[in-house]
Amino acid sequence: NKSYEFIKAELTGANKKVALITLNRPKALNALCNGLMSELSNALDEIEANKNVAVVVITGSEKAFAAGADIKEMKDNTFAQCFAGNFLNNWNRVARMQKPVIAAVNGYALGGGCELAMMCDIIYAGDKAKFGQPEVTIGTTPGAGGSQRTPRALGKSKAMEMCLTGNMIDAQEAEKAGLVSKVIPADKLVEEAVKLGDKIASHSQLIVQMIKEQVNTAYETPLNEGLKFERRGFHASFGTKDQKEGMNAFTEKRAPKFIDE
Ligand code: CAA
Repeated sequence: NKSYEFIKAELTGANKKVALITLNRPKALNALCNGLMSELSNALDEIEANKNVAVVVITGSEKAFAAGADIKEMKDNTFAQCFAGNFLNNWNRVARMQKPVIAAVNGYALGGGCELAMMCDIIYAGDKAKFGQPEVTIGTTPGAGGSQRTPRALGKSKAMEMCLTGNMIDAQEAEKAGLVSKVIPADKLVEEAVKLGDKIASHSQLIVQMIKEQVNTAYETPLNEGLKFERRGFHASFGTKDQKEGMNAFTEKRAPKFIDE
């Protein structure tokens, strides 16, 4: 429960195994300024290192998950400055997490906000959520995955339409297209995301993180290579204590007690 300027971080859930990060720059609709993104990275470093935390939930306010990169902060950047500093390169901390990350999106998830949500493993949307890649309307392009993750999540036609028009899609359309896995009344969203976190946290975290790696591998490799990677992970699970515990508990008709080893 360290104090930050632009985010809040707390442990929650039934067994305090879910880290809830709330983006907290309400006056700017959680525009993702450098300060916010570096606090988010630091918080995620700590969470990754904390053995008691199983799952992360990232949320914003009811009005905005995040309205994108901070336009005021970046507007005078030159190409040379962007290039030299590899601008936005440090944003992918979320995508590099080994622990599962759930985005609970209420309100606007635009530009970098939509990209941040798509870096998470699962997106739950509040019923008033809106997703968009409006970079084209301000004379720039997506820069943190918007043009790469939307086609994978929504298919080419919808992705092109979003990226080329800057139009937003609502929560229902996002669910239909497969960008989000569930739409929930706005005021119940965080609670439901934490419940989802609790469910994931009830399993072996070693195995959960292996499975996350397997699913992500589906995006990076041809099918045959992915299947080989999966098979080896399956074999490797037999070298864990949690596999023995899980299968013994099943045969003994009792609940398993996993130790993440
Ligand atoms: N950067 C900086 N400030 C922002 C911001 C952003 N992305 N989005 C909103 N704000 C600020 C506004 O400037 C405003 O501040 P002031 O009160 O000081 O004027 C405050 O937040 C409230 O915003 P609005 O008055 O605009 O609120 P609204 O309800 O009328 O509109 C909105 C909401 C439609 C989300 C509108 O704010 C908007 O269009 N925001 C910009 C969205 C956008 O273009 N995002 C993409 C950024 S580029 C990017 O993200 C690149 C990338 O790939 C990483």
